[in-house]
Amino acid sequence: MSQGTNLRRYHAAVWDEPLIMEQGAPGRRGTVPPAPIEGSGIDDLIPAAMRRKTPPVLPEAAEPDTLRHYLHLSQQTMGMVGISLFGTCTMKYNPRVNERLAARDQVAEIHPHQDDSTVQGLLEVVHEFDLMLRDLSGMDRFVFQAGGGAAAAYIHACVTRAYHESRGELAQRRDVITTAQAHPCNPATAAAAGFNVITLPVEEDGYPSLDALRAVVGERTASLMINNPDDMGIYNPNIKQWVDIVHEAGGLCFYDHANFNGVMGRIRAAELGFDACMFMLHKTFGVPKGGGGPAVGAYGCTAELEPFLPGPLVVKTDSGYERRENEAGVGRVREFLGNLPQVVKAYSWLLAMGGDGIREAADISVLANNYMESRLLAIPGITKSFGHLTLRRLEMTRFSLGEYTEETGVTVVDVQNRMTDFGVDAFWLSHEPWIVPEPFTPEAGEAWSIEDIDYWIDVLEHVLGEGRADPAMVKSAPHNQVVAQIDGSSLDDPARWATTWRAYQRKNA
Ligand SMILES: Cc1ncc(COP(=O)(O)O)c(C=O)c1O
Repeated sequence: MSQGTNLRRYHAAVWDEPLIMEQGAPGRRGTVPPAPIEGSGIDDLIPAAMRRKTPPVLPEAAEPDTLRHYLHLSQQTMGMVGISLFGTCTMKYNPRVNERLAARDQVAEIHPHQDDSTVQGLLEVVHEFDLMLRDLSGMDRFVFQAGGGAAAAYIHACVTRAYHESRGELAQRRDVITTAQAHPCNPATAAAAGFNVITLPVEEDGYPSLDALRAVVGERTASLMINNPDDMGIYNPNIKQWVDIVHEAGGLCFYDHANFNGVMGRIRAAELGFDACMFMLHKTFGVPKGGGGPAVGAYGCTAELEPFLPGPLVVKTDSGYERRENEAGVGRVREFLGNLPQVVKAYSWLLAMGGDGIREAADISVLANNYMESRLLAIPGITKSFGHLTLRRLEMTRFSLGEYTEETGVTVVDVQNRMTDFGVDAFWLSHEPWIVPEPFTPEAGEAWSIEDIDYWIDVLEHVLGEGRADPAMVKSAPHNQVVAQIDGSSLDDPARWATTWRAYQRKNA
C-alpha cells in the first residue's frame, strides 16, 4: 500500500472543559430527592458520631450542565472503538451483549451482604466460570478477588509465603526467581511479600538459559514467577524443564498468563507442571481493561495450594451454592468476591466462544501478528527484538525504532504521540527496564479486521516518513488532540501531584 494515501482526516473535539468541581452555581440542582419520611427512623441508621458536621463540598450543577460536561469528556476521548493494537494487553473489543448482561438488576443492583439464598444465580456463574477456567488450565480452583493481573501475582506471593510457612520452611525459602522479560509485577509483588528477587538476564535465545536457572535454584527458592510467551512474543520451549528444576528444589511455580491470547486452548498450565496461574479477564476474556480497579485477575492453583486461597470461596452443595470462608487462607486481597460484573462478562464471552472458538481465536491472533510483522519489517527503520531468531513469535512481537531514531533523532515516544493525530490509539512501548532500544509492541489479537490492521500500519509508515521530512513537527506532536504533550514533572513530585480536588486546591493555593 502506498504511504499515507488512504489516511483519514481527524481532529479530536476540543472543549477546554473545566473540571466539574469548577462548574455550577449555588442553588442549581438536578433531581431533588424527597426528604426522609418523618419518624421513619432513617436518621438513626448512621450513628451520631459518624454523621457529617458539614455538608460535603460538591458542585451544585443542573442536570443538563452535568450531562453536557460528561458528553464533552466522552467526545474528547478516542475510546475503545478506535483501532487499538496495544500489545501485552490484548486490547479487545468488548461485546455489547456482555455489557448488557452485567448491567441487569440481578448483577448491578445486588448487595454483597445479601444472603446466599438470594444470589444463587450469581454464585452459580462464579462456580461455572471457575470450572471453565479449571478446564483451560488444569488447575483445581480459581478465585476472582484480585483487581487486576498484578493483584493476582500478589495473591501468589502471599500464597507462597503461607505455603512455605505451613511447612516450617519460610525462614529458609527467601528467593523468588523471575526473568528480565517477566512483567515487573512479578518481582514487585514478590518483594512486597517480603521475598528477595532474583532476576535472570535474557540471553541469545531470547530467554535465560537452563544453566542460569540451575545456578540460582536451591533450598532458598520459594517460587518461580514467569510469563511465557514473554512480552517480546518469544515462547520459551524449555518451560517444562524450568518447572521441573524449581520443583526438585522444593519451590513453587507460577504462570503469569497475561500473554494467553496466542496459546488459548493450546496449552494447560498444570500439564506444564505449574502450581498456580493467573488469567486476565480484562484482557484475554473480552472484559474492558482497567488496570488495578475495575479489572479482574483470576488466580487458580492446585489442590495443594487451595487451603491458602483468599476467601470466601464459592462452593456447590446439595442445596445450592454458598460462600465459605477459607480458614487457612491469606485473607482478603480485595473486598467480597471481587468485581463480579466483570466475571459475568467474561463468563458470557467464554460461553459464546466455546472451546473451538477460543482455539480459533488464538490461531487468528498469531496469524494476525505474523501478518503485521511481515508488513512492519518491510518498512525502513523498523527492526525486531532479537532479530536473529527465526522462530515465529506468538500473539505479539516487540519491534525497535532504534535505527530510525539514530537516523532522524525522532524517538519512539514522538512517533507514538504523532500517531494519535490520525485517530488511532498509539502503541505500547515496553515494560521497564527497556532491553530493546526505542521499543514498541503492537498486538492485533483476533478481533481487528485486516483493514484495521492495514490502516494502523499505514499511519505508522506515514508518520515515519513525516519524521524524516520534518522531525520538528513529529517531535512536537500531537497537533490534532485535546491536549498537546503533557508535562509529567508533577507526577514525580509529591509536593505537586494531586489525586483529589482537595489536594489539588491545597497544593495549588
Ligand atoms: C505479562 C503481564 N503480566 C502482568 C501484567 C499486569 O496486569 P494488570 O495491568 O492487570 O495489573 C501485565 C500488564 O500488562 C502483563 O503484560
